Amino acid sequence: MIASAGARIARMLPPETAHTLTLRMLSYGAGVPLHAPQLPVSTRVELPKSGLRLCSPVGLAAGFDKNCEVPEAMAKFGFGFVECGTVTPKPQPGNPKPRLFRLTEDRAVINRMGFNNFGLDYFVRRLEKYSHAVPIGANVGANKDSEDRIGDYVTGIEAVAPYADYITINISSPNTPGLRGLQDRASLTALLTRCGAADRNGLPVFLKVAPDLDPEAIADICSVLNAEGAWLSGLIISNTTLARPPSLRSEDKSETGGLSGAPLFQPSTEVLRQFARKLEGKFDLIGAGGIATGRDAYAKIRAGASAVQLYSLMVYDGPGIAARVARELSHCLADDGFASIADAVGKDL
Ligand SMILES: Cc1cc2nc3c(=O)[nH]c(=O)nc-3n(C[C@H](O)[C@H](O)[C@H](O)COP(=O)(O)O)c2cc1C
Repeated sequence: MIASAGARIARMLPPETAHTLTLRMLSYGAGVPLHAPQLPVSTRVELPKSGLRLCSPVGLAAGFDKNCEVPEAMAKFGFGFVECGTVTPKPQPGNPKPRLFRLTEDRAVINRMGFNNFGLDYFVRRLEKYSHAVPIGANVGANKDSEDRIGDYVTGIEAVAPYADYITINISSPNTPGLRGLQDRASLTALLTRCGAADRNGLPVFLKVAPDLDPEAIADICSVLNAEGAWLSGLIISNTTLARPPSLRSEDKSETGGLSGAPLFQPSTEVLRQFARKLEGKFDLIGAGGIATGRDAYAKIRAGASAVQLYSLMVYDGPGIAARVARELSHCLADDGFASIADAVGKDL
């Protein structure tokens, strides 16, 4: 209740000011529940390839807590796992402000933050202190001015591996020029070869992909995964989109950057479904993009995801969204006669 009132007040402030203030308040424990909510037993899940065990399949997506400052607080709101980052080896300021826009009428967000973060040293100092109340993912990226971007991922993996529960290689931010080129066949092969040789301390590693992929690009990624990705646990599908659906109504709809929230739900779920069809259960899939309800999460699970993540709709609905989505999801499972998440994974394929 307090948290959703907080979300309403935060929406009266400019978006990035609201975000900074929210992180500050959460880091002081303001509005954070004393105990994590009790969640239904049917929402417990173990991801088959990575072995991650989650009390809820609803995780916090990367970008909210770029510097690993409030993972404990987010666990208390009922997220089943939290992903921090994207962190780059060196600190960097990101793009000039304004770079974050609320598209309120569309329940969406556009951002062109550009990997603003305090760098790996700061991130790792925070990560070391985390209690592991729920599994934590460290999402790693490359500096904008790096001469060896793949080397940046290797540096990131090796720095966070002693302390995280899983690692995400983010090659799909649209706000670092050329980064998405790492999804191309030759670059992805080179990335997976070098990152596969990095010391990851036995941790599961996920690759985060864009939603702006045509069937040919999806087929290419899958064939590289089959050839060079045996060590990878899975994919996170998806990051924000560069597309602008004609249905958008908000004033800021033409701002440059990645679009997320409600309008991303359908396209990101479709890309998830295509990956799931091609990969046939060989990798764990985590679905992200436009989740606001248990029904949305359930649709991603039926399309092949074993877990989901959300960020943008928390901006509108407050952090109570984590526990609410998990509870609604348990009702969706029960209505269709499934005793567990695992039973429903990929049922629409
Ligand atoms: C303001 C903002 C910043 C983001 N920053 C990152 C980031 O640093 N790394 C990343 O992998 N994804 C980032 N994302 C993408 C989200 O993690 C997520 O994949 C995407 O927004 C789709 O989920 P949603 O519709 O629930 O927000 C960001 C999203 C937003 C809205």
